[in-house]
Amino acid sequence: MKLIAPSILSADGGRLGEEIAAVEAAGADWIHIDVMDGRFVPNITMGPAIISALRKTTKLIFDVHLMIENPENYIESFATAGSDIITIHVEAAHHLHRTIDMIKKLGKKAGVSLNPATPLTQVEEIIPDIDLLLIMTVNPGFGGQQFIKNTLPKITKARQLLNAFPNNQLLEVDGGVNLKNIGSIAKAGADVLVAGAAIFGTNDYKKTIADLKAAVSGN
Ligand code: DX5
Ligand code: ZN
Repeated sequence: MKLIAPSILSADGGRLGEEIAAVEAAGADWIHIDVMDGRFVPNITMGPAIISALRKTTKLIFDVHLMIENPENYIESFATAGSDIITIHVEAAHHLHRTIDMIKKLGKKAGVSLNPATPLTQVEEIIPDIDLLLIMTVNPGFGGQQFIKNTLPKITKARQLLNAFPNNQLLEVDGGVNLKNIGSIAKAGADVLVAGAAIFGTNDYKKTIADLKAAVSGN
């Protein structure tokens, strides 16, 4: 089954609780939360305090995407704040295995993410230890960017890589996903489709999420 994860980066920041309730009512599967530190990426967003406040508003899975340097220093705070899945970037983690282990010992699902130019070979050895692989299809930092078409073959390759393991890790795709390209992204093997601007940039979340789900069904 394909899952739709609205990214609240493109939601109305003054009404995050209401925005989450609205996409939940509209059929969202997960809530994707983008954490940026102004160092790993050229933008700053939200931290554990906001996540903790939002945790009280929904029971949906919080899929927390850490675009931060030294993620190992913050795993405990993000776990305590109510994250369900914590994904770190391979480019930001010197001791990837140790940090993944830390996430799992805190009882959370662990994900690893790759920037568009980072080869899959960088994560081959960690696949058996993770729950989710996140392929970035834009350069992380901002919502509303255009999907980088050359990342599509990488999604296919990532699917093949995951299929070689018995653990059923999920393949998530993040960046520039919209109604036009979501079908081919799902067909390439993505399980979880993150969409920010494509959902929050519309005024009928229910119709948008239904359209996105219809476009991936059967893939
Ligand atoms: C980009 C973030 C994405 C972003 C996706 O750095 O990781 O999750 O919010 O937004 P759209 O779907 O608008 O590209
Ligand atoms: Zn993200």
